Amino acid sequence: MSDDWQPGPDNPPWRALGGTEAVKALAERFYDAMERTEPALAALHKRDAQGKVDRGSRERFGLFLVGWLGGPQDYMAQYGHPRLRMRHAHVPIDSKMRDAWLRSMAIALDETGVTGSLRAFLDARFAQVADFLRNVPDEEQEEQAAG
Ligand code: HEM
Repeated sequence: MSDDWQPGPDNPPWRALGGTEAVKALAERFYDAMERTEPALAALHKRDAQGKVDRGSRERFGLFLVGWLGGPQDYMAQYGHPRLRMRHAHVPIDSKMRDAWLRSMAIALDETGVTGSLRAFLDARFAQVADFLRNVPDEEQEEQAAG
């Protein structure tokens, strides 16, 4: 998908990915991948009786991605500014959790067939935000450093 894609006001990632339904499908694949492959990360999320990440959370994340990737700003209209650091303050995020999140997103992007310049752009943006959300030190590394 989109080897020669370039970001711009008329060509946001939301459009290049195929629009709102495609972006919402990416969010669903992301949580499905997380449930299958990253149990520790999935366990931090609200889940239903079947152990699936809660439907409401899936839908809010999908709506957030639509706006964050340059589509309609319905998330903002309904829930206000995402304030991502604040909304993750109660979730302990170290570099292992960051990487688990990014691996889940990489699977979802692989399954969606996102490659080329669009993929490079999205990988970089997700990596940037996920790193910015780290809010606890990496204990193991600190212990190693302390000998
Ligand atoms: C870095 C690792 C990350 C972890 C461990 C993580 C974990 C979580 C958890 C546990 C929740 C649910 C919070 C709750 O139930 O109260 C959540 C919600 C959310 N996360 Fe993350 N997250 C991460 C990265 C990201 C990134 C990179 C983004 C955006 C690109 C993001 C966007 C969101 C949004 C928008 C919600 C709110 C969904 C809602 O309204 O229910 N998260 N995250």
